[in-house]
Amino acid sequence: MPIEELGEFVKKLEEAGELRRVKTQVDTDLEIAEILRRVMYAKGPALLFENVKNYDIPVLGNAFGSLKRLELGLETSDFTEIGQRIVDMTKMDIPTGFFDKIKKLPELSKITDIAPKMQKSGPVTEIFEDLPSFEKIPILKTWHKDAAKFITFGLVATKHPQTQVRNLGVYRMQILDKTHAIMHWQKHKRGAHHYDIKKDAGDKIEVAVIIGADPATVFSAVAPVPEGLDKYIFAGIVRKSGIKTVKCRTVDLEVPANAELVLEGYVDPADIRMEGPFGDHTGYYTPPEPYPVFTLTGIMRRQKPIYLTTIVGKPILEDAFIGKVIERSFLPLIKLFQPEVVDFSMPAAGWFQGMAIISIKKRYPGQAKKVMMGLWGLGQLALTKVFIVVDDDINVHDMDQVIWAVTTRTDAARDVMIINNAPTDTLDPASPLLNLGSKLGIDATQKTKEEGYQREIQELVKVDEDTMNLVDAKWSSYGI
Ligand SMILES: Cc1cc2nc3c(=O)[nH]c(=O)nc-3n(C[C@H](O)[C@H](O)[C@H](O)COP(=O)(O)O)c2cc1C
Repeated sequence: MPIEELGEFVKKLEEAGELRRVKTQVDTDLEIAEILRRVMYAKGPALLFENVKNYDIPVLGNAFGSLKRLELGLETSDFTEIGQRIVDMTKMDIPTGFFDKIKKLPELSKITDIAPKMQKSGPVTEIFEDLPSFEKIPILKTWHKDAAKFITFGLVATKHPQTQVRNLGVYRMQILDKTHAIMHWQKHKRGAHHYDIKKDAGDKIEVAVIIGADPATVFSAVAPVPEGLDKYIFAGIVRKSGIKTVKCRTVDLEVPANAELVLEGYVDPADIRMEGPFGDHTGYYTPPEPYPVFTLTGIMRRQKPIYLTTIVGKPILEDAFIGKVIERSFLPLIKLFQPEVVDFSMPAAGWFQGMAIISIKKRYPGQAKKVMMGLWGLGQLALTKVFIVVDDDINVHDMDQVIWAVTTRTDAARDVMIINNAPTDTLDPASPLLNLGSKLGIDATQKTKEEGYQREIQELVKVDEDTMNLVDAKWSSYGI
């Protein structure tokens, strides 16, 4: 059975020795953040702060800050298999005739298994606050020069205004007062797209912010799921079982029935304010930029909710581990579009959008460039600043091997591609303009004669078999 709620995940983490309870009184103003940062940098456990000054809601942080915790939460140690499930679904034929339907019943039942299931009520409907306020929630200030307190791990739910496809995205929110917060959905994200459609029609957009849910739903909100795929269905694919949902009270949206807290409201395109600065996951303070304001209209919550949060800053912190799972789980989807791709890595130090290394089985001249261009057109990979493409004899997770390939198989003038004025990550501190910058592609594959490399390809040094066998046989006698 998949994990149904955050409390169950906390229990699992505790049983596995992956969580500590902090009983000393702690402050939401900077103190909790600094404790979490120290523990995250030391690769320590999840922390549940039970005694939070001025609040009766405990704060959970670093819950996803190791691969082991993500394995426990997503109930698999093979993250690639998650993406494979999506690829397998794309291969399912839609049955037409009666006998065809009968034959396909087992596959169709899989779809109903993963679809969300609407309930009349659930733990999150235990309390409804119609005079809502952010003030009762232990929202953190994380860096001393941050503009205010920020919700950092809210799952922001919207619906595509035309297709009704549901989205969840983690977008931070800067608290302004009891009922207003600035919504930091970056231009390229699905939430911002839904908002733009409503804005063009002169309308506000309804939003629900889910705080604390089962691990698969949290993961789904961070995952760069292909446009058009409903994130609640994606959560069902990850869990192998549909999530339970309930209707919000003041907005026409569905939210997970087992959530801890749900903040209902709307984002108004007529109310734009300066968001930031905020100590970001690039390691820099992102300077103020204009974003629209969320107005809180109601809070649904459990009697005893847990406030789930995270901290960002110079890598490597908690989000690095979530990013690693995204990298592993999306490999099958990348291969679906670029079949020559063998492996793929986004080193955490490059805050994920910064750099990716791709190994390919090269068959024809220029293929590395074709792969780069393809990936720069694929979902959020469009925001990746640097691609390095290597041959499949290189382990993309071993930077020593990658640097060796770049320095032995690349000629700068021939193998480096720069694309100007392309979309770039909003947070990129180096791009000359916000959201627009250049791309660097390095083709570090072995060049062939067809690619203009007229010299003989030099032979790789490798020990000969006789010497290897001799040393193997005498190894224990050397006294090493
Ligand atoms: C801790 C954390 C904070 C994030 N904050 C933001 C944010 O403030 N704005 C944003 O656009 N993306 C943010 N992201 C990244 C998005 O959640 C991510 O790109 C996601 O895939 C967006 O999904 P969507 O485009 O399908 O809506 C954050 C991710 C994490 C893990």
